[in-house]
Amino acid sequence: MCMKYIFILISMSTTCFGSHFRGALLTWRPSEIPNKVEILYRISWARSSVGQFCNKTTISSGTVLSSGSLSCLKNCNGTIGVLNYLCTDFSETENWTTGRGSITYTFPSNHTYYEFGFTGGAWISLVKGGSNWELRVKANLAPRTDTGRVNTAPQVDISPIVRLIHGCHHTIWIPVTDPDGDDVRCRWANMTLNECAGICNASTGAVLNETTCTVTFDATGSKGYYALAIQVEDFTSGSTIPLSSVPIQFLVYVYNSTLGCNSVPEFLPPTRPNRDTVIVNPNGTFTDVIVARSRIPNTDIKEITTVSPSGFSKSILMPYPNLTGAWYIEVTWDLPLVFSVQTYVFCFSATDKSGLTSQQRCMFIVDKGDVNECESFPCENGGNCTDIIGSYECDCPTGFIGVNCTEDINECDLSPCGNNSKCINTYGSYLCECYIGWTGENCTYVRLELLLPLILLTPAILSLLICILLLKRKKRR
Ligand SMILES: *[C@@H]1O[C@H](CO)[C@@H](O)[C@H](O)[C@H]1NC(C)=O
Ligand SMILES: *[C@@H]1O[C@H](CO)[C@@H](O)[C@H](O)[C@H]1NC(C)=O
Ligand SMILES: *[C@@H]1O[C@H](CO)[C@@H](O)[C@H](O)[C@H]1NC(C)=O
Ligand SMILES: *[C@@H]1O[C@H](CO)[C@@H](O)[C@H](O)[C@H]1NC(C)=O
Ligand SMILES: *[C@@H]1O[C@H](CO)[C@@H](O)[C@H](O)[C@H]1NC(C)=O
Ligand SMILES: *[C@@H]1O[C@H](CO)[C@@H](O)[C@H](O)[C@H]1NC(C)=O
Ligand SMILES: *[C@@H]1O[C@H](CO)[C@@H](O)[C@H](O)[C@H]1NC(C)=O
Ligand SMILES: *[C@@H]1O[C@H](CO)[C@@H](O)[C@H](O)[C@H]1NC(C)=O
Ligand SMILES: *[C@@H]1O[C@H](CO)[C@@H](O)[C@H](O)[C@H]1NC(C)=O
Ligand SMILES: *[C@@H]1O[C@H](CO)[C@@H](O)[C@H](O)[C@H]1NC(C)=O
Ligand SMILES: *[C@@H]1O[C@H](CO)[C@@H](O)[C@H](O)[C@H]1NC(C)=O
Ligand SMILES: *[C@@H]1O[C@H](CO)[C@@H](O)[C@H](O)[C@H]1NC(C)=O
Repeated sequence: MCMKYIFILISMSTTCFGSHFRGALLTWRPSEIPNKVEILYRISWARSSVGQFCNKTTISSGTVLSSGSLSCLKNCNGTIGVLNYLCTDFSETENWTTGRGSITYTFPSNHTYYEFGFTGGAWISLVKGGSNWELRVKANLAPRTDTGRVNTAPQVDISPIVRLIHGCHHTIWIPVTDPDGDDVRCRWANMTLNECAGICNASTGAVLNETTCTVTFDATGSKGYYALAIQVEDFTSGSTIPLSSVPIQFLVYVYNSTLGCNSVPEFLPPTRPNRDTVIVNPNGTFTDVIVARSRIPNTDIKEITTVSPSGFSKSILMPYPNLTGAWYIEVTWDLPLVFSVQTYVFCFSATDKSGLTSQQRCMFIVDKGDVNECESFPCENGGNCTDIIGSYECDCPTGFIGVNCTEDINECDLSPCGNNSKCINTYGSYLCECYIGWTGENCTYVRLELLLPLILLTPAILSLLICILLLKRKKRR
């Protein structure tokens, strides 16, 4: 059952390690170039497996780990690329490493529909099924009839292992989103469609709600690991034909506890609730605190495990100063600069020293991306627009002010009209109604033309007066 894997690894390692696989997810998004896509994946392995070791140093140093290859499964042949990854998270207690990577690939131009995936062996020992794995993506690269653009596949994420107490009824929410805003539904992977290899039909006790992507799990069967294989699909509203189909496969571990269903560790404020959505500024920083406490007296928290986007930085587990018995971690993340909406999933759970694990919580981190707001010409009245991250700035012409240069400045407030003249504010400017005898834009000039007749007539009037005087004198004589 390790044949395929040995073949893949032949150049890297000759070891075939059984029961090392801990699940994976695959998705993709198109580029501007036809048939060229970016394939995104997250893969989880036993942390103790050769080449899959991850700790804080591995994460911060950006050590590349490798894990087999991605194959074309329909309409093309052979290897698409090597599934190298950077580990993002690990669990010492649960013995797993998980990490992300991406492959940019151009499919041959003679088809617009492709299936590709990841196959190999072997899974961790399971209660039911096991050995080989197969994850299969269905990608339609033809432009959509409704938008005229190539579809982007839905996104999905969850912890590699969800731990559930035996004898209890559990609900597992699988966070899914779709960058195109399509309807997203989940379904079990199907053996006939070659979507699940050794773990088809292996999810005994699990019921999937296809519209909400939640699994209810009756943990009353055997204890141990169960593998869940789910296809996430996006649909245009009302349609039953998926635009694309992407796989997520993860583990549920059902464990023994005599302490009862409600004895698992609790999260305390300010820990965010399950299914929360946080909106971050483009090129911004996300910071958060996760606080957990055991419900068993005098028991400490042993580990807070996370599943995070690439680049997250997490503190070590620390005693929470504000509450006795509580422990916490801090996470910070400088988001990558993106130019369209990006949704990231962040999941976490806490395990105490008695081996009990809290309910998993997952949340969305939404980055609206930096859009060039100037493209919608927000600056009015001839203002010049400058795009800045997350916003824009308008350079307004004289007479206008405000975010969009729409506010008229009332110039009359500054009393620009001189010499007792009246100021009338207009849109973008002002007018001065000059007092008699004054002129100019601001009524600061004497109206010479009014005095002109007077000046011109002065010699005439003077001569007239002289004439009159002379005449009077003549009369007297
Ligand atoms: C981790 O898992 C591997 C594979 O299932 C197993 O061989 C190994 O013993 C485990 N290591 C620990 C420390 O649990
Ligand atoms: C991570 O593991 C390496 C190799 O075992 C070790 O040298 C390093 O100190 C570890 N880093 C941390 C932060 O534990
Ligand atoms: C892939 O290879 C098989 C066998 O080698 C061949 O029958 C098939 O036509 C090939 N398919 C494509 C799309 O090249
Ligand atoms: C598609 O194109 C590739 C090379 O671009 C070629 O090898 C393959 O045979 C073609 N397949 C079909 C079905 O035409
Ligand atoms: C699996 O797929 C086949 C082929 O499309 C279909 O006939 C069958 O009903 C599917 N099985 C399930 C359980 O949905
Ligand atoms: C799946 O499991 C059910 C019940 O366990 C069984 O009836 C069915 O035949 C199984 N299907 C396959 C394809 O193994
Ligand atoms: C799935 O969940 C929704 C919302 O809780 C509910 O309305 C619907 O009936 C559920 N579907 C099934 C098949 O249980
Ligand atoms: C499960 O619990 C029972 C009783 O509490 C105990 O006898 C048994 O050893 C436990 N099994 C495991 C695998 O821990
Ligand atoms: C994004 O933020 C980082 C750190 O805050 C900063 O150094 C960088 O210049 C910013 N990028 C842009 C394009 O503003
Ligand atoms: C403890 O509480 C204080 C006041 O409420 C708060 O400012 C501080 O951030 C808290 N410490 C941690 C580690 O959350
Ligand atoms: C500026 O214009 C933008 C886009 O046209 C609009 O959303 C915003 O509300 C305007 N702001 C003000 C203060 O008018
Ligand atoms: C806008 O930019 C043009 C060209 O740089 C310049 O001529 C004009 O004066 C600017 N307008 C304003 C209101 O700044």
